[in-house]
Parts: sequence; C-alpha cells; structure tokens
Amino acid sequence: MTDSAGPVRVGLIGSGWIGRFHGESLARRIPETDLVAVADPAPGAAERVAGELGARYAYTDAADLIADPDVEAVVIASPARFHTDLVVAAAAAGKAIFVEKPMALTIADADRAIAAAAAAGVPLQVGFNRRFATGFAAARQVIDEGGIGTPQLLRSLTRDPGGFDPAAVKPGTIFLETLIHDFDTLRWFNPGADVLDVYAVGDALVHPEFAGRGLLDTAVVTIRFDNGAIAVAEANFSAAYGYDVRGEVFGSAGMVTAGDVHANEMRHYHAGGASGPTTRLNIDLFRDAYTQELADFAANVRGAGRPVPTGEDARAALAIALACIRSVDTGARVALSAVTA
Ligand SMILES: NC(=O)c1ccc[n+]([C@@H]2O[C@H](COP(=O)([O-])OP(=O)(O)OC[C@H]3O[C@@H](n4cnc5c(N)ncnc54)[C@H](O)[C@@H]3O)[C@@H](O)[C@H]2O)c1
Repeated sequence: MTDSAGPVRVGLIGSGWIGRFHGESLARRIPETDLVAVADPAPGAAERVAGELGARYAYTDAADLIADPDVEAVVIASPARFHTDLVVAAAAAGKAIFVEKPMALTIADADRAIAAAAAAGVPLQVGFNRRFATGFAAARQVIDEGGIGTPQLLRSLTRDPGGFDPAAVKPGTIFLETLIHDFDTLRWFNPGADVLDVYAVGDALVHPEFAGRGLLDTAVVTIRFDNGAIAVAEANFSAAYGYDVRGEVFGSAGMVTAGDVHANEMRHYHAGGASGPTTRLNIDLFRDAYTQELADFAANVRGAGRPVPTGEDARAALAIALACIRSVDTGARVALSAVTA
C-alpha cells in the first residue's frame, strides 16, 4: 500500500479554494509530503495548479489520479457531493485518504466510506481543522486535565466574513458544511459524551429576499449530551468585522475559551477608542491548523498512529447536522437516533 520511508507522495483531488491551499501545504509547507499529482475536471485547473506547485501529473478525471501508482495518499477537496465515492475508490486502490468535511451527506454514505477504508486497511482522516488550531488544542488539554471540572455548558460559533452568493447556497449548507465544524468541536470538547438530541432554528437574515427559496444564512442549535451538558452552536454567513470562530466550555470548576477574531495583538489607540485588525479569510485564520492537520496525516500514513478525526467522527457530526435539518423542517426537537436508525 504505502512506502515506509521518504515523503508521502500525495495526489490532490479538487484544486479549488481549499484544495489549492492544501496543495501549497503539501508542496511547500510540509517537508514530509510531496505533491505528485492534481486532479480537477474544470478545464485547465489541474494543469495550472500542478504547474504552479511542481506536481508531475495533472488529470481531469480523479479516477486516473487514484490509479496512478506514484500516488500513495490522496487529499480530497472536491465539492462535498463527490466525497464518499472518491473515498471508496481511493480505498479500493489502497491509498491513504484525507477527505475534507463533510465526508458524506447521508448516514448510509458515511457508513460506506468508513467500511471501505476499514476493509482496505487504509488510513482515513477528516478535515475538522479546528482540532489542530493552537488555542482549540490547548483548550482541549485543559479539559483533559480536569481544569474545568464537569462540562455543563458548551458554545461554538462560526461567523463567516460574508461576500457569498445567496443563489448558490444549497439548502442545508449552514448545517452540513459550516456548523458541522462546530458540531465536531462540541463533541471533541465533551470527550466521551454522546449527543442525545438537537433543536435548531434558522433563517435568512443576511439575504431575507432569499428566505422563500430556502436559504438559511443564520442558525442557532441547542444540543443535549448524555452526560447532562447543554451546548449551543451558532452560525452566520456575514460578519461585518471579519472571520470569527470561537469555542467555550463552562464546567463545575471553571471555564475555557478558544478563538479570537483579532489577526494579531496590535491595537491602535486613538481619539475614537482602540482598534486592531481582524482576520478575513479562513486560510489566514486557520493557516497553521490546515497545515498541521496534513502534517499529522502524513505522520500517520508513515505509521505514527491512527488518523484523527476519524470517519466515525465525521459520521457523528453529520448525524447532528442531519438532525438539525429535520428540526428546522419540523419545528421540533430531534433525537439523533431518528436520523441514524
Ligand atoms: N475545512 C475547512 O475549513 C474547509 C474550508 C473550505 C472548504 N472546505 C470543504 O472543501 C470542499 C471544497 O470546497 P472549496 O471551497 O474548495 O470548493 P471550490 O468550489 O472552490 O473547489 C472545488 C474544486 O473541485 C473541483 N471538482 C468538481 N468536481 C470534482 C470531482 N469529481 N473530482 C475532483 N475535483 C472536482 C472543482 O472544479 C473545483 O476546482 C467542500 O467540501 C468544503 O466544505 C473545507
């Protein structure tokens, strides 16, 4: 399946916004990886990114990249609806797999992806990058060390910096592609606990004119865990002040917080008050986390350990997202068992 030494030879599938950034990490920022191939069906896209990043092969069909014997691992960054089939094809070819979130859009597909990787015995890691952000990882360590006692209240939020095309946002996106990060973070911040049920409210507050077409650009979710903890996740697609991702866990012995909208510690103090720059892009806010998750993946492909977040983590976060969609549709609290059964 994989060589036991040297940089991991990675093929990038999908070279759009995040794929291109991952390609740069693989080619330039991570010594333990080589970007050897790029696949993208958009005319000229794979050639362009492969050329810029020094990859030897460019394909329009991901199947050709997966069949390439020089590729020992794939990073899948295509649109979400292709993820499961690509995971299954890569597993069948014996390639180690890093797949962007969401790994699947249905529980059946999540199970299919997990089973394919297990049957092939290949590593499968999912792109929940917040786990690799320094502040979030430090918060989890405080939780592990008992620093907040028993978790009682958890909070996670994502406020994107806006500029989206409301006509291009598919129904469910806010849960399946955005809040799925928060759902993973909340599970990870409450280790060992399972989610019982969710209640979700959503609306089109940024673009109310699209409300009738099913757009949700704003949502709040309450989540109950089986250890009694209660969590709130919230998202909005248009924060005027920048890209804002934060998490918080409050417990019997204290509180831990993670995430900061400020780009750095500089503050400008002036007649009108004090101000500082904020982050505008995910690839700036999470630059190091996106790089570290792929560095960890490479280490795990070389045998350091089992890749985390796992396919099972992806399935668990997906189940919460699917329950949220049902909750918005019905106006009712939805048990997770109702979407996983
Ligand atoms: N972890 C994160 O923070 C994060 C951030 C951004 C995007 N993502 C995820 O990454 C995925 C891609 O998002 P994006 O914003 O880069 O999208 P994008 O539209 O910018 O790029 C997708 C690329 O995939 C290509 N493509 C389409 N079909 C393909 C196929 N069958 N095989 C290979 N390539 C194909 C497209 O031509 C395009 O170049 C999504 O699942 C998204 O949720 C994750």
